[in-house]
Amino acid sequence: MEAFAYQNPHPDSAIQKQKWFSDEFLYKFKGSWIWSTYLESTKKVVENFKPLPTDVILASFPKTGTTWLKALLHSIIFRSSEEKSLIFNHPHELIPSLETKLFLESNGKDPEFTDQKVRILGTHIPYQIIGDVLNSSDCKIVYVTRNPKDTLVSLWHFIQKAKKFHEDPWTLEAAVDQFCNGVLPFGPYYDHVLAYREESLKRPWKVFFVTFEELKEDGNKQVKRLAGFLGCPFEGENAEEKIEEIVKSCGFETLSNHEVNKSSETPECFPLPYNSFFRNGKVGDHINYLKPEMIHQIDAITRQKFHASGFVY
Ligand code: A3P
Repeated sequence: MEAFAYQNPHPDSAIQKQKWFSDEFLYKFKGSWIWSTYLESTKKVVENFKPLPTDVILASFPKTGTTWLKALLHSIIFRSSEEKSLIFNHPHELIPSLETKLFLESNGKDPEFTDQKVRILGTHIPYQIIGDVLNSSDCKIVYVTRNPKDTLVSLWHFIQKAKKFHEDPWTLEAAVDQFCNGVLPFGPYYDHVLAYREESLKRPWKVFFVTFEELKEDGNKQVKRLAGFLGCPFEGENAEEKIEEIVKSCGFETLSNHEVNKSSETPECFPLPYNSFFRNGKVGDHINYLKPEMIHQIDAITRQKFHASGFVY
């Protein structure tokens, strides 16, 4: 499959549309911007996905730590029965996402995709769109977010792996403007984060909220908290040891060095290679790319959007 082959599935001109980069377009759907590639599958998720009460839904804005959380959730939930899975399987293959895989491939029906007792499923769909669906069952939601500047820089690097980036580059200047205007896939970023955060404050037993930075700072503490939330706490004499093992086996150094995650092959239904999900996994790397005026521009919006609602980044 050619990377980012453009198909316009939406001849409907009434739908609001904005250029992203090159010949990639975003479409406005229920107040959010959805990349053309995932617009139909996002609609199918909303119309057809029936979460089971035992499902665990990992929700995130792109580039905020989804891959990391997929590995952690898989390890926490399946523990020793699946110990070797992460060595041989890319986290995105172990844990499929709704709109970027399952409903992209299905003809609209809720796909049968696993015989495991607990289904762990990823999604980037904003709560504003998928909230009612997720509230139709007692499924649990785990949400990860990340510093806005690192998220943007990570996305910008990720897109550089696309072949067409070299023909028609997505400049960092354009990326910053689009980020600030909210016109990026699944954006606006700020609305995405705030909606899930608000739900986690209202219903902490339903929505678990964690940041990339909290995981970096004290992975053991967050894994323990997450396991408790999921109803599968670590118990017994070896609890701390087991937590430590999981944090290590899902850490950037370990995960990014597995052959499957180093592969430059492109998975069947994704336009970028397996290794594009691992760059350096650092906190604060934006400082090496963003000019002071870009930082100023993003910080001003962060203050206005996040700080006003009590969320400080
Ligand atoms: P960087 O580009 O800043 O390195 P997502 O999984 O949501 O697409 O996010 C990808 C980002 O998470 C990338 O950030 C990637 O390197 C980082 N990442 C992937 N696995 C990680 C891990 N195990 N620990 C820390 N960061 C990780």
